[in-house]
Amino acid sequence: MVVWSSDERAIITSLWGSVNVAEIGPQALARVLIVYPWTQRYFGKFGDLSSVAAIVGNAKVAEHGKTVLGALGKAVKNMDNIKATYTKLSKQHSEELNVDPDNFRLLADCLTIVVATKFGAGFSPAVQAAWQKFVDVVVSALSKQYF
Ligand code: HEM
Repeated sequence: MVVWSSDERAIITSLWGSVNVAEIGPQALARVLIVYPWTQRYFGKFGDLSSVAAIVGNAKVAEHGKTVLGALGKAVKNMDNIKATYTKLSKQHSEELNVDPDNFRLLADCLTIVVATKFGAGFSPAVQAAWQKFVDVVVSALSKQYF
C-alpha cells in the first residue's frame, strides 16, 4: 500500500488542477509516438502517423491523448486505491490490446517532460518528486494484471 504525505497529496492535487487535459494529453501521446516510433504499431487504426506533422495533426491521437489523461485523473481522485482503479484497464491493455508494459514507462516519461515544459519553474524538484512517485504508482498499477 502506497503512503502519501499530506504535502504530496496537496502537490498532486494542485498540479493536476492546473493541467488542461485537452492540451497536455494530445502532446504527451504525440511525443511518445514521435520519440518511440515503435509504439505506433498499436495505433494502426488511427490513420496517418507517417511524420511528426501527421502525428501532431492527427485528430485521433489528440482524442486518445485526452482519454489517457482522463484515466490519469481517476488515479488523482483515488490516490489511496490506484491499483484497484486500474485493474480493468491493466487487464485490457494486457489481454485485449497486447501492449508491452514497458511502454507505460515511456508514456509516463513523455508526460513528465510535457508537464515540466508547461509549468517551467513551477515544476520544482519537490513537485517533481511527488509527481514522479505518482506516475510510478500509475505505471506499476497498469502493469499489475500482466503477471
Ligand atoms: C498512463 C498510461 C496509460 C493509460 C492511463 C491508458 C489509458 C487508456 C484508456 C482509458 C483507454 C480506453 C479504454 C476503453 O476504451 O475502454 C486506452 C486504450 C488504448 N491504449 Fe492505453 N493507456 C496508457 C498507456 C498506453 C500505452 C503506452 C499504449 C501503447 C503504446 C496504449 C495503447 C492503447 C491502445 C492501442 C488503446 C485502444 C485505442 C483504441 O482502439 O481507440 N496505452 N488506454
